[in-house]
Amino acid sequence: MEEEIYKYIKEHSSFPHEALRWVEKQTHIRTNHARMLSGTVQGEFMRLLVQVSGASRILELGTFTGYSAICLASALGEDGHLDTLEVNDELEDLITEGFEKAGLTDRITLHIGDCKETIRRFSQEGKEYDLVYMDANKREYCEYYDLVFNLVRPGGLILADNVLWDGKVCQNPLPQDKQTISIARFNDIVKEDPRVENVILPLRDGLSIIRRI
Ligand SMILES: C[S@@+](CC[C@H](N)C(=O)[O-])C[C@H]1O[C@@H](n2cnc3c(N)ncnc32)[C@H](O)[C@@H]1O
Repeated sequence: MEEEIYKYIKEHSSFPHEALRWVEKQTHIRTNHARMLSGTVQGEFMRLLVQVSGASRILELGTFTGYSAICLASALGEDGHLDTLEVNDELEDLITEGFEKAGLTDRITLHIGDCKETIRRFSQEGKEYDLVYMDANKREYCEYYDLVFNLVRPGGLILADNVLWDGKVCQNPLPQDKQTISIARFNDIVKEDPRVENVILPLRDGLSIIRRI
């Protein structure tokens, strides 16, 4: 999206949560990967999606510094809950501080560890979700899709981020470009899956909205 248009959209959209300004600043100061933040426009879109869908049980794969978790959880009602999964334990303090600043500690549980292991455990425990947000390792999207599918209730949503991968999914990827190959395969699998309906929005790096029928 052109920078000028993006700036205009930002200025004319509501802001998901005040604590996010702190999270964004701290992400720039304390990590080298601030570009991984979903940002205000996508954050506000997802917050509204939680509100209009009435989702109350949410699973997030890939917490990073907690930006999207705060966006999603801030739309939850008193009984709602978000489980967010992150492999990098060095981020734990920053994530926890952000959740405290947002006043959302009672609505969010952070699970440190490989999300595939955590999802397998959740599956054994019979957990069920209204909405799953996939934003962890792009090379593993197909595996995540298989693992989370049965945790999503019929009618529930899976949101998958970065599915356009800077437009590279439309080009012929080099054999060593595992991320593009994996995301393109994921998009093909979703398109052919008769159990779902979906649309890819050209929002930021591409957001696929997948509804389990
Ligand atoms: C793009 S960032 C997530 C950004 C975050 N959702 C946001 O919008 O603020 C991806 C995160 O996934 C984490 N990750 C990668 N592989 C993972 C895995 N197998 N299990 C759990 N987290 C993983 C990375 O450490 C990184 O923090």
